[in-house]
Formats: sequence, C-alpha cells, structure tokens
Amino acid sequence: MKATAVRLHGKKDLRLETYELPAIKDDEILAKVISDSVCMSTYKAAIQGSDHKRVPADIAEFPIVVGHEFAGEIVEVGKKWKSQFSPGKMFSIQPNINSRGLGYAPGYSFPFFGGDATYIVIPAEVMEKGCLLDYEGDSIFKASLSEPMSCIIAAFHASYHTKDDGQAHKMGIIDGGTMAILAGVGPMGMGAIDIALHGERKPKLLVVTDIDDSRLERAKSIFTPEAAAKDGTRLEYVNTKGLPDAEKYLRDLTDGKGFDDVFIFAPVKPVVELGDRILGKDGCMNFFAGPTDPKFSAEFNFYNVHYSATHIVGTSGGNTRNMVEALDLMGKGLVNPAVMVTHVGGLDSAAETTLNLPQIPGGKKLIYPHIKMELTAIDDMAEKGKNDPLFAKLADLMQKSKGLWSADAEKYLLANAKPM
Ligand SMILES: NC(=O)c1ccc[n+]([C@@H]2O[C@H](COP(=O)([O-])OP(=O)(O)OC[C@H]3O[C@@H](n4cnc5c(N)ncnc54)[C@H](O)[C@@H]3O)[C@@H](O)[C@H]2O)c1
Ligand SMILES: [Zn+2]
Repeated sequence: MKATAVRLHGKKDLRLETYELPAIKDDEILAKVISDSVCMSTYKAAIQGSDHKRVPADIAEFPIVVGHEFAGEIVEVGKKWKSQFSPGKMFSIQPNINSRGLGYAPGYSFPFFGGDATYIVIPAEVMEKGCLLDYEGDSIFKASLSEPMSCIIAAFHASYHTKDDGQAHKMGIIDGGTMAILAGVGPMGMGAIDIALHGERKPKLLVVTDIDDSRLERAKSIFTPEAAAKDGTRLEYVNTKGLPDAEKYLRDLTDGKGFDDVFIFAPVKPVVELGDRILGKDGCMNFFAGPTDPKFSAEFNFYNVHYSATHIVGTSGGNTRNMVEALDLMGKGLVNPAVMVTHVGGLDSAAETTLNLPQIPGGKKLIYPHIKMELTAIDDMAEKGKNDPLFAKLADLMQKSKGLWSADAEKYLLANAKPM
C-alpha cells in the first residue's frame, strides 16, 4: 500500500512524499497515524541531519520519517502479536526504544516508522520492549502529548530530598512543599503547572516565572490562582523581567526560607543561577531545559551545597512507566495536555512547521497526517471563521473548553477538513 509522509533526506531537507510501504512481516504491525505533535528535538534533527546522534548516516538513500509524539489506530497485526493487539484499537507509542543500542528511535531513524506519516510499519522491537501502548481516551491528540507529559513526570520523580537524614535520597518532589517553575509558561512549563497542581503530589506554594507577559496572561487564565487555591495550592505568577531583585522577591514568597523544588525550563544562565539562589535547605534544582551548547554552564553555590544540602538533578525524556502514568492522569481527567497546544495543521504543513519551529510563536503544534490544512493558530480560528465555516465551527466548539483544543474540535476537524 502507499503511504505519504514527511521524510528527512539531509540537513534541512524535509520532503512530503508518497511511497510504497512494505507489507508487514509476521512480527510487525501496520498502523494509521492520526496525530503527531511537533517537538523541538525534531527541528534539531532536521537541522543536523546525519550529524544528529539518532539519525543514520545513509538518509540520502534511505530517508527517515520525522515525528515521535504520535498516536493512532492499529490496522493490521502480524501473526506473532495477534493475541495482544487487534485492528481498530487506538495506540500510543513510547518512542525512546533505543534501537540497536544506538539511541535509534521513531522520528529519527526509520524509513517507514515515524509520526508525520499516514501509515507506518511498527517494528517488532517496539512490541518486544513494551513500547506500543493501548490508548482509550476521548481524543487522539492527548495520546500524542503523553510523550512530552511523560518527560515532565520523569523530572518530577527524579527530584530528590534528603530531609531528616542527610544520607538517604527520598525520590520525588515534596508533597505540600514549595515549588518554583522558572521560565515556566512555554508549552512544557504549562504541562508542568498542570501536573504540579493535579498530580499525585502537590506543592502548597507554586510560583511560576517567565518574561513573556502574553504567555503569563494565558497561563493565568487557564490555571487560575482561585482554582488552584480551591485545590490547596497557592499559585503565584511572576514576570521577572525588570524586577530589581528577583531573588529577594521570590524568596519573600516563601517567608525567606527558599524553595524545596525549583525547576528550570529555559537553558539560560541567569535563570539557572537565580534557581540556585532561591533554593531552601535541602532544596533540589531540576534542570529540565535542554541546552544546545555542549559547554553550557552556570555558577552554583557550593557553600550552600555543603551547609544547606542544596543539590541539582536533570533528566532528558521519560520511560514507558512515566508514559503510562501520563495516560492515566489524562484518562482520569486530572490533567489536560490541550494546555500545551496553540496550533493545528495538516500533513502538508508539517515540513515547513518543523523547519521554522523556533520562529513560530506559541506552544505545541499538532499535525493531523490524514488532512490537508495550513498550520493555523487556535487563537486565529474565530477570525478566519469569518471566511471559512470550518474554522468558525472549530472556534465555536472550543468555546466550551476555555478556548483550548478539544476532543470535539478534533473529531469535527478530522471529519470535515480536506483529506490528505
Ligand atoms: N527534560 C526533558 O525531557 C525535556 C523534554 C522536552 C523539552 N525539554 C526542554 O524544556 C524546555 C522548555 O520547552 P518549551 O517547549 O516550553 O520551550 P519554550 O522556549 O517555548 O519555553 C521557554 C520559556 O522560557 C521563557 N524564558 C526565556 N528566557 C527567560 C528568562 N531569562 N527568564 C525567564 N523566562 C525566560 C520564555 O519566555 C518561554 O516562555 C526546553 O529547553 C526544551 O529543550 C526538556
Ligand atoms: Zn518530543
């Protein structure tokens, strides 16, 4: 059968193309991809081509399908997996499969397996490693976003404290503690706020900083301090730009004690150094941001490491367990990854979106591989709706969900947009 996908042929060389998909072997699965969310890591891979550690050397000959935050429907199951998987079922994928021990993964390393494709062949090792997951949510885009959500969950688990003892590491953020998320209203920060407010451990104080007023306003309208207070968390948003003494301002919010958990969501030296300075006793700084500079470094106060037990941790990505946890939180309606989404487009917009990702404002961009549609900001849909009934209806549907992308909007789009 034919598949259409965006494939990487070399540095900055992404092409939308249609090709013959090989028939599945007994240990493979054929699947339809329904949604893929675009990741900054894919942008990096597209720019670096084969210099990226996950991208094979021979992509000029065997181009790879990009996109690793995807979900969809199983179409055909090879003999080996018939007792475990069946056609028609929805799936989500944990992409960190570390194929061949080389870090190879969907979206970076395979010619017929990645998110920006109409149909894919899922290799045996994905099932063997338990990375093909059942999904039973109300909308497929949430399954795509379970991947970035799983990274945040991983980070929340990796933070640690040594309270009372000083020797045993107690894993995870402090329940009922004080938390700061610095540079925290980008898409990943939004997910982190959601998990902090609605996950299994909740801080009693959550301070979110950024320097972007419009993003801060959006965050405040989605996660209101009033609603957080009802759930037991005092939530404060702070624009640190122009604050004469951000350290003092933030510390004062903890009555001078400093924070138990500090998360850094931008790879910016002054942000990391501010994070260090606002740590309390036994405070853990979690460097979540992914720097591009291999020499990225910042100052850390070692007097405090010695006398106040401050410490640091960092994670990159999550594992299957974290993804199952993310799917579970979503399934229970506790967290809603729609808060990350600001744009929606069809497969014909995926290559351009990926190559220009750093210049496109907003949060996560969702690609629906079976439709044709230019990348459209959710906030522009009402305006565009004046000339296009599709956008008018989508804007109308999103009124029910505080202007956020939703299951209803997704269903309507998939049923009514131009097919790919
Ligand atoms: N650890 C992981 O597993 C993992 C997974 C995905 C993404 N990431 C990383 O998470 C980070 C955040 O991702 P994102 O998509 O939300 O990025 P983003 O760039 O959209 O958001 C970062 C935010 O930082 C703010 N910011 C920039 N400079 C600042 C400063 N000096 N002071 C305060 N705020 C400042 C920006 O206004 C923006 O809102 C990225 O670095 C990304 O690489 C990590
Ligand atoms: Zn990703």
